[in-house]
Amino acid sequence: MIGLFDSGYGGLTVLKPILDKLPQYDYVYLGDNARAPYGIRTAETVQQYSEQAVEYLFDKGCTLILTACNTVSALALRHLQQKYLRDKNITDKKILGVIRPLAEYAAKSTKNKRISVVGTRGTVASKAYDIELKHLDNDIHVFSKACPLLVPFIEEHWHHKPEAKKILKKYLRPLKSTNSDVLILGCTHYPLMYSDFKRYMGKNVDVLHSGEIVADSLKDYLERHPEIEKLITRGGTRKYITTDCPDAFKEFGNKELKLAIDTVKKEAIW
Ligand code: DGL
Repeated sequence: MIGLFDSGYGGLTVLKPILDKLPQYDYVYLGDNARAPYGIRTAETVQQYSEQAVEYLFDKGCTLILTACNTVSALALRHLQQKYLRDKNITDKKILGVIRPLAEYAAKSTKNKRISVVGTRGTVASKAYDIELKHLDNDIHVFSKACPLLVPFIEEHWHHKPEAKKILKKYLRPLKSTNSDVLILGCTHYPLMYSDFKRYMGKNVDVLHSGEIVADSLKDYLERHPEIEKLITRGGTRKYITTDCPDAFKEFGNKELKLAIDTVKKEAIW
C-alpha cells in the first residue's frame, strides 16, 4: 500500500494525478484536517505531527509513504527518514518527499535561471527550495514569497471567492518584477488555485503543477526501484482518513478534485 499525508486537502492534488498514472496500487490518504495548517507551526511541531502520521500509515501496512506536503518535506522529511529508516535492515519501507522532484523539474525548465517559489511560511523560511535548486545549479537565482493566507482560504473552500484572488494577486506582485521564467507552487494546496496563479504571472512564466510533477517522479522512482515496487500491494483500493470532519473532506475531494470518494473515516492519530 502507498500512503500519502498532508495537513489537510492539499495532498489530494498529488494523489489525483498519482491515481491517474498508477491506478493499480492500494492507497491510503491521511489528512490531518484537525491541525491544519502546518505552515505556520515550528519545525518541532511539524516533526511531531508527521511522526504520528507516519506511524499511523506504517501501522496500516504502507510500504511507501509520500509526504504530500511541502511543509513536511521541508521541515520533517530528513527527521522522519532518520528516525524510521536509519537501520540498514529496514529495506522494505520508504519515505519520499515532494521538494526534490519539483526542484529538479524547475532547474531543467528555466532558461534565464531565475526561479520564483511560493509556499507556506515554514517552507519559505526553511529555504529548502533554495538549497535544493542551488545544489542542482549554483547559478540559479531563487526568489521566494510566503503566502500564509492561502491554505486557510482553501481549507475553508473559499479559494474561488474574489477575496482569495485579491490576496493572491498581492502576494504575487513582488515576484512579478523578478523576471523569473518559472514559478514553483511549493505548497500542495496551491494547485487548487492554479488558473489564478497562471493568470497573474502571465504567459511568460511557467507555473509548475506540483501534483503532476510529483506523480511522474513517483512513477519513475518505482520503475527504477523494482525491489520497492514489488512490495506494494496491488488491489486498486483507496482509503481516505481524516483527523476531523469526514463529511467536509468527502465533499471537498469529490467537488474540487472529482475523486469519487465513497467513505471518509475520522481517526485519532495521536
Ligand atoms: N499543503 C501543505 C504544503 O504543501 C501544507 C500547508 C499547510 O498546512 O500550511 O505545504
